[in-house]
Amino acid sequence: MIEARGLQKRFGNFQALKGIDINVKKGEIYGFLGHNGAGKSTTMNILTGFSKADAGSCIVNGWDIAKVAHPGDLHLGYLPEEPKFYPWMTAQESLYYLGNLWTQGSVEKRVEELLQWVGLDKAAKRKVGGFSRGMRQRLGMAAALFYDPDLLMLDEPSSALDPEGRSDVLNLILDLKARGKTVFVSTHILSDAERVCDRVGILSQGQMIIEKSLETLLAENVQSIYDIVFNKPCEPEILARIKQLPGIQEVNGKNERLSVWVETPESSGKALFSLFGTADIMVQSCALRRATLEDIFLEEVGKGVL
Ligand SMILES: Nc1ncnc2c1ncn2[C@@H]1O[C@H](COP(=O)(O)OP(=O)(O)OP(=O)(O)O)[C@@H](O)[C@H]1O
Ligand SMILES: [Mg+2]
Repeated sequence: MIEARGLQKRFGNFQALKGIDINVKKGEIYGFLGHNGAGKSTTMNILTGFSKADAGSCIVNGWDIAKVAHPGDLHLGYLPEEPKFYPWMTAQESLYYLGNLWTQGSVEKRVEELLQWVGLDKAAKRKVGGFSRGMRQRLGMAAALFYDPDLLMLDEPSSALDPEGRSDVLNLILDLKARGKTVFVSTHILSDAERVCDRVGILSQGQMIIEKSLETLLAENVQSIYDIVFNKPCEPEILARIKQLPGIQEVNGKNERLSVWVETPESSGKALFSLFGTADIMVQSCALRRATLEDIFLEEVGKGVL
């Protein structure tokens, strides 16, 4: 559905994209992850035809984007980072306006359906100028879905939403997948990505450092982690002693909270807890868990290889 090769983009002297490849298959939910400024929106503006790459090639929805005269020709739905609407129009009027641009006949039913779908039915007759960021994001989502496209490009669809709104968006994305759509979604919320994505691409400083199925990524990084909470901040001396125990791979966290990465619980658990037994510190809670997408992201991006 998307095949990008060697995409580059420069702003003045700043190389924002350093030659990235992206592969998105039909029918999958692809999570595009990366820190602030990694280049996600820049990439998405190129993939949707709103901005031109300096170098590289890209096929989107069967079209070579270099040969597409107008972004509308790509037949995709795009929710930009900051969707823009006319502030004097109501939510309903904004969608009527959008619908009447390319549709013959009545769009009333479609507008009503979309407003309900994104949870804006009660705000349908309110002016968009008075909308919160989250409400604008919901309206942007309705606009992206208007023409029922096969490919949805969503730039941080849930960043401004409350927990209920986030959950609605995730369900909407899963619903789209169930209807055979392909969804390319950028997000900072790694637990959300872990819940819905089939594959993920991690972008760091304009370079793609990982592109894999989520299942493979998690399976390759099976890692046992103890999350420990103490009754007081853990002193540097105790930290140093933990790091020297057998099978300890990494120790993260500060103050009362530590995450200790171990080869296996068998290799380190006993030594770890006998150390706490002799030190002047008390464990308030301890949970053994597997590495999440967030742990892997922080580990990979934090390696500082780029
Ligand atoms: N029009 C522009 N002019 C100059 N620099 C730009 C422009 N657009 C983006 N950049 C720079 O390119 C880099 C990538 O920006 P981009 O908006 O793509 O990041 P992002 O991954 O979407 O970040 P965020 O998570 O904050 O949305 C940043 O350093 C940004 O300052
Ligand atoms: Mg962005």
